[in-house]
Amino acid sequence: MGTRVGDWIDQRSGWRDSWNRVFLARIPNISWGHTLGAATLMAVVILLITGLALTFYYVSSPTDAHQSVQYITNVVPLGWLIRGLHHWAASALVVLSVAHLIRVVIHGAYKYPREFTWFTGIALLLLVFGFGLTGSLLPWDQRAYWATEVRIEVFATVPFIGDWLARFLQGGDQLSSLTLSRFYSAHVWLFPLLLFGLVAVHLRLVLRHGISARPKEEPRRDEEPRKREEASLL
Ligand code: HEM
Repeated sequence: MGTRVGDWIDQRSGWRDSWNRVFLARIPNISWGHTLGAATLMAVVILLITGLALTFYYVSSPTDAHQSVQYITNVVPLGWLIRGLHHWAASALVVLSVAHLIRVVIHGAYKYPREFTWFTGIALLLLVFGFGLTGSLLPWDQRAYWATEVRIEVFATVPFIGDWLARFLQGGDQLSSLTLSRFYSAHVWLFPLLLFGLVAVHLRLVLRHGISARPKEEPRRDEEPRKREEASLL
C-alpha cells in the first residue's frame, strides 16, 4: 500500500530521484568532520520549529514582553522545554557553524569550484550572528537591555557610518519600544526569510558540486626528483 502511494506520487513528482540523490548518495572517503554541515542544519530546523512555537505566546511590546516570556517558562505546558531548546539550539548553532567553517578551511573545500558555497556560508554565518543580536533583546529584562546597549555601542564605533548604524538599529537615539519592534521583526520575519533562501542556495550548490574529496598527502617537492630517480632505476 505504502509503495503504491509512493509510486503514484513519484510518477507525478519524481520525488524518489531527489530523495536518493540527497539521502542515499554514497560519499566515499569522508570523516566525522563532514557531518558538521548536517548538524548545523539540524540546529537550524530545531530553532525554526521552537521559534515558531514561541511566537504563539510571545508579545513584542515593552510592557508585556518580559511577562510573556515568564508566562511561557512557568505556565504554558512544556513552555520551559520549548524555550530551553530554542536557547541551547541557538548556542549550538554558533558553535556548529564555526566548527563547520573550520572543517571547510582545513580540507580546503572553499576552493574552485566551491567559492559560491563558501560565500553563501559566510552570509549564513553573519545571519547567525544577526539572529543572536536580535533574539537576545526579546526577553526584555535587565540583562537583555544592557547587553544590547553595549552591542549597539560597539556598532557605533564603525568608521563613518557608526552613528547612523546605531540610530538605525535602535530606531532613534536610545533603546526604546521601537528597537524591540525592529529586532522582533528582523528575528521572526526578515532573517528567517533570508535564511531559507541562503540555505536553499547553499545546499543546491553542495548537491551540484558534491562533497569535496579529502586532501591527500603528496610527496614533498624536494622528494620528487629522488623518487623519480629511484623509479627509473627499478
Ligand atoms: C546555517 C549555516 C550552515 C548550514 C545549515 C550549512 C549546511 C551545509 C551542509 C549540510 C553541507 C554538506 C555537508 C558538509 O560538507 O558538512 C555544507 C557544505 C559546505 N558548507 Fe555549509 N552550512 C552552513 C554554514 C557554512 C559556513 C559558515 C561556511 C563557511 C564560510 C560554509 C561553507 C560550506 C562549504 C564550502 C561546503 C562544501 C564542503 C565540501 O564540499 O566539502 N557553510 N554546508
